[in-house]
Amino acid sequence: MKLARNVFKPLAIGAPAPYRELPVRLERMIHFVPPHLEKVRAKVPELARQVDVVLGNLEDAIPVEAKEAAREGFIAMAKATEFGGTGLWTRINALNSPWVLDDLTRIVAEVGHKLDVVMLPKVEGPWDIHYLDQLLAQLEARYKVQKPILIHAILETAEGVKNVDAIAESSPRMHGMSLGPADLAASRAMKTTRVGGGHPDYKVLSDPLEGQPRAVAQQDLWHYTIAKMVDACAANGLKAFYGPFGDFSDPQACEAQFRNAFLLGCAGAWTLHPSQIGIAKAVFSPDAAEVAFARRILDAMPDGSGAVMIDGKMQDDATWKQAKVIVDLARTVAARDPDLAAAYGL
Ligand code: GLV
Ligand code: MG
Repeated sequence: MKLARNVFKPLAIGAPAPYRELPVRLERMIHFVPPHLEKVRAKVPELARQVDVVLGNLEDAIPVEAKEAAREGFIAMAKATEFGGTGLWTRINALNSPWVLDDLTRIVAEVGHKLDVVMLPKVEGPWDIHYLDQLLAQLEARYKVQKPILIHAILETAEGVKNVDAIAESSPRMHGMSLGPADLAASRAMKTTRVGGGHPDYKVLSDPLEGQPRAVAQQDLWHYTIAKMVDACAANGLKAFYGPFGDFSDPQACEAQFRNAFLLGCAGAWTLHPSQIGIAKAVFSPDAAEVAFARRILDAMPDGSGAVMIDGKMQDDATWKQAKVIVDLARTVAARDPDLAAAYGL
């Protein structure tokens, strides 16, 4: 095991030192853009004002014959756009693919200083992160990138889920993780062709009672994995995300999936279609009434200790911490969104 004192040393001479704490960024939606399409690229400057993160996708969904065009398109859109406080990410191809080496060398060479996060698909264990960590350090050093480029792992194989804790603690370059329900379903041989969300056949039935219809409740296929991912991330100071929701015709189901992830501890979700941006914004920004109540708790317990009653509800040191989670998030949202700042009174 690596010596503790070496963990925060750069992995290449001339590379920037890893962050000790993640930069505080609002990342309610990671919006996927197919960068080989010029029409889509032209809209990126406007998009960057509407979303928290713009991600240029180079992996799945990009046709094989467009892989190079997507890579070069990403570089062009990164150069042409002023991102301000909006994050710039890319999803590179898998480490065993013929494209990934050029994805990384070209992109860090051309726009490494603008790139916040590399999303790595099909992560199976800490060895994948160690390889990318070392390579990024070498490229950062060669191209004089001043701030570390972070790594975000997609949790989308059974082996990755088995190794999720080791992945989360593998490097100070780790930003967080996203659940990839499509690849994960395939890897586990789950019998669903849906991209995220529930399944009508995954349910529990109430016991049969004479003369009464049996109640049916659909269950959440992803609960176990999301909770496991959230624990691995939170324990290591990383952020957890829900990934894609594929049925663009069902905004209610998308909202329900996003909300479950939010309540369980996720910071955001992927948006693959413009209609999902508003859903993610609404879900991953705390509710104004909840913020108001959380602020009452903090005001009633200025030093965070003791016990008070508010509207018949007991508050103590632990609920003070719960309230602080909500208010800290509200402040981060308010700093970026004047409408919500007004709604929160912040
Ligand atoms: C995302 O990449 C997924 O496989 O769901
Ligand atoms: Mg996938």
